[in-house]
Amino acid sequence: MAAEGKCLARHENLVIFVKDVAPGDVVDLQITRQKKNFLEASPVHFHAFSELRVEPFCEHFGVCGGCKWQHINYETQLYFKQKQVKDNLERIGKIGSKPILPIKASSETAYYRNKLEYTFSDNSWLTTEQIKSGQEYDRNALGFHIPGRFDKILDIKHCYLQPGASNNIRLSVRQYAKLHNLVFFNQVKMEGFLRNLIIRTANTGDVMVIVQVYYDDMPALSGLLEHLKINFPEITSLQYVVNGKGNETFHDLEVVLYHGEPYMHEEMEGLRFRVGPKSFYQTNSDQAYELYKITRDFAGLTGSEIVYDLYTGAGTIANFVSRQAKEVIGVEYVESAIADAKLNSQINQIQNTKFFAGDMREVLNEAFIAEHGQPDVIITDPPRAGMHPEVVEKLNQLRASRLVYVSCNPATQARDLEALAGTYEVTKIQPVDMFPQTHHVENVVLLELKKEPA
Ligand SMILES: C[S@@+](CC[C@H](N)C(=O)[O-])C[C@H]1O[C@@H](n2cnc3c(N)ncnc32)[C@H](O)[C@@H]1O
Repeated sequence: MAAEGKCLARHENLVIFVKDVAPGDVVDLQITRQKKNFLEASPVHFHAFSELRVEPFCEHFGVCGGCKWQHINYETQLYFKQKQVKDNLERIGKIGSKPILPIKASSETAYYRNKLEYTFSDNSWLTTEQIKSGQEYDRNALGFHIPGRFDKILDIKHCYLQPGASNNIRLSVRQYAKLHNLVFFNQVKMEGFLRNLIIRTANTGDVMVIVQVYYDDMPALSGLLEHLKINFPEITSLQYVVNGKGNETFHDLEVVLYHGEPYMHEEMEGLRFRVGPKSFYQTNSDQAYELYKITRDFAGLTGSEIVYDLYTGAGTIANFVSRQAKEVIGVEYVESAIADAKLNSQINQIQNTKFFAGDMREVLNEAFIAEHGQPDVIITDPPRAGMHPEVVEKLNQLRASRLVYVSCNPATQARDLEALAGTYEVTKIQPVDMFPQTHHVENVVLLELKKEPA
């Protein structure tokens, strides 16, 4: 198994990365790409199937980019995730052979996500069988991007990732849109009305639905929103965005409330978290609890520490650890997430947190540290790209006793750990599986301050 869920084969000393296979399959390959040091290939004929295989449970498996490891049994998925962490830390992070705690498996391996984002397209992806059949197909789709294709969307019949009403809401939106001739988007020509549908299902039962359209046509949009409001009383927050931009991101746009509350709530260990439409919340709520418990445990708090929670999102980790700390300072660049973080402290009667909005590179400066105090413990949970080198340098200068690095990308985490190696020593490593059926893995690392030479 190689990076990004591909498998590795060798032929005459050449490395070949193969997609859509399992380790141990015996296959004939078609080379699809030739690079200087490696080749890429797809299977054309299977001679033998690997013993690690299981029957995928989703009809979209193999076409949809969502759950690429459904054909590999869960035990093996966990084995390769653990190995991915080990390989990255050793090769990129140059962290010798430190013991790695066994990966924390997910209690649910299907219907574990609390957020899905679907795209509308008038250019539905057709499978080879569909094309061969010569039949006419409806080309309007509401589903997921075909891997690597911004312009091709797979129409999803049933998705096994999100529980509750998610599938019914998506199917109903699609049916309503067809019936009322609402125009699905065309990503190449950049025209059409319906762009994107986001469904968030919280562990409190709250359901948030956000519809994105390309231009303002309230009569058409309110028909669809009214349809959802009447037919899905479980929707507690129904919102929309008019997005005329070149892409589907809406952090810089107004999200308008149509019905219900402008946020939803998640619950964890008696705490209630308010999550707005622009706020990040870990997508597997049950595993988020496991992840945060590990983070809190690694932080080793006694009640007297100043803690910095970097990339705090809606302040979830900050609030979660606040009872064991003297003070927690959270930093995050999405302003509305910071507003949620503050509210989350208020709702839970937490008084020892402070939150600040801004780019980490700019916020984490001398004046900020002078004002809020030298941190005893730093928790950092950056996005997939990892931390900016200037932020890493700042952490070297800050010399906190403990640094807990939570990451959803072991490769960038390993890169950052190498840059921290002069100041901190890695003392604990705990991978966590937040995303079963995919190659993605979360990893928590504890770094402790090295003694300064006498
Ligand atoms: C992986 S999430 C972590 C969120 C939070 N710790 C949690 O568990 O819910 C990363 C967060 O970093 C924020 N972020 C990304 N780049 C940033 C930057 N340059 N400065 C500050 N925050 C940033 C994102 O908005 C996102 O909320």
